[in-house]
Amino acid sequence: ASLGGLALSFPRGQTGELVHSRVRPPRPFRVPLPIPAVARPVRTDATTDFFEIVQRETDQEILPGVRTPVLTYDGTFPGPTLVTRSGRRAVVTHRNDLPVPVAVHLHGGHTPADSDGYPTDLVEPGGRRDYTYPMRQRAATLWYHDHRMDFTGPQVYRGLAGFHLVTDDEQDALGLPSGERDIPLMITDRSFDEDGSFSYPANHHGAGVNDAHMEGVLGDVVLLNGAPWPVLEVAATRYRLRLLNASSARRYRLGLDPARTPLVQIASDGGLLERPIEHSTVLLTPGERCEVVVDFGAVGPGAELTLRNSLGSGRTADVMRFRVTGRASDDSRIPQRLSRIEPLSADRAVRTRTWAFRRAATGEHPGWLLDGRPFDPERIDADVRLGEIEVWRFTSDLYHPVHVHLDPFQVLSRRNQGAGPHDKGWKDTVDLAPNESVDVAVRFADYPGRYLLHCHNLEHEDMAMMAAFRTS
Ligand code: C2O
Ligand code: CU
Repeated sequence: ASLGGLALSFPRGQTGELVHSRVRPPRPFRVPLPIPAVARPVRTDATTDFFEIVQRETDQEILPGVRTPVLTYDGTFPGPTLVTRSGRRAVVTHRNDLPVPVAVHLHGGHTPADSDGYPTDLVEPGGRRDYTYPMRQRAATLWYHDHRMDFTGPQVYRGLAGFHLVTDDEQDALGLPSGERDIPLMITDRSFDEDGSFSYPANHHGAGVNDAHMEGVLGDVVLLNGAPWPVLEVAATRYRLRLLNASSARRYRLGLDPARTPLVQIASDGGLLERPIEHSTVLLTPGERCEVVVDFGAVGPGAELTLRNSLGSGRTADVMRFRVTGRASDDSRIPQRLSRIEPLSADRAVRTRTWAFRRAATGEHPGWLLDGRPFDPERIDADVRLGEIEVWRFTSDLYHPVHVHLDPFQVLSRRNQGAGPHDKGWKDTVDLAPNESVDVAVRFADYPGRYLLHCHNLEHEDMAMMAAFRTS
């Protein structure tokens, strides 16, 4: 069935509906990969770095020769990359020059509740707000994005997302590839209308998501850092790639072609793993990060390696290309011991809570439910004591990427088996397959207040698949 540019289809390995672009897509692997600019603090003192970001509308050349209207952090999609230091406070002032209210969430941030971007805690047009991040957390690849109640999907889709990297001494001492060999890669899928604008299904009900689109929005153009199927020239050395899936609903399984070159995972959502893990492919669900090291020295100058998505078909099976130029010296390494992770053992858990991620039966709320009910920003769904370990059991009907605010968790088991190959380390977002059950151990260290857990399929989130917990 086709409704304008919308084709009702559930591609393999996805929950979502494909929106077809109405422009000719560019040939892949022509556009150079852009690297988002690193934001400079406007001021620093003994304890704190201060940043300022203006949220504004502009247009950006995403497809060659075509202008696309975007909502931005500081004029670009993706927004500027914030780089902050573990243990040093960061204060980010957001000024809202957009015509819509916003809420800013630092995904993966160990953040006091009043700066966490609760969906009803809005910065109105013309307003401004200081978000304070103590950064009492280890080095990790975080990202910031919009979290406005009912409108997160459309507002992120139109451009409100950026990287926030936390650095620390432990990571600096390892000798991993750094500087221009440390590449953030934000993966999104988008569709385009004839006029070059992003094609997000219209909203008829005062909510952010069209009912016809509640499954999730899948685009047919793959963007890396906002560029379609780009190419990056690399030296024949090791590179660190910080992969982030910032798509609304699309899952990716990424691997290099030819397949001889492994992706050596060194970190996940919450920073370094204990030990590197070699993968031929890595799975990335919406919201997740996976950091890998690729040794282009193993293929040598002149070679081309293509990053592909085996869950895609046609154009969405291509992601980007690496073109290996010359040899260069490389003193980076991947130590066999990266970090130490204190296991949160289930034996020490004070209770098990179950959170069911399911579609509403017809007749009820027309969306997605968490534990049988739609999100109510005024309701507390769980009370959790700071410092206690709990086991949270997530269950699903379809694919749901489950995300918890405030602190990361550890995956204990899937379907009562061991954790999966992509579940290692500290996680804040975990992939749930249809009819799956995943047990994780959580412990919230500090900050009393009201926080969220939700599905990170942004249309499911906007259709109320979200719950609030209160820490005390
Ligand atoms: Cu990345 Cu509550 O979100
Ligand atoms: Cu979902």
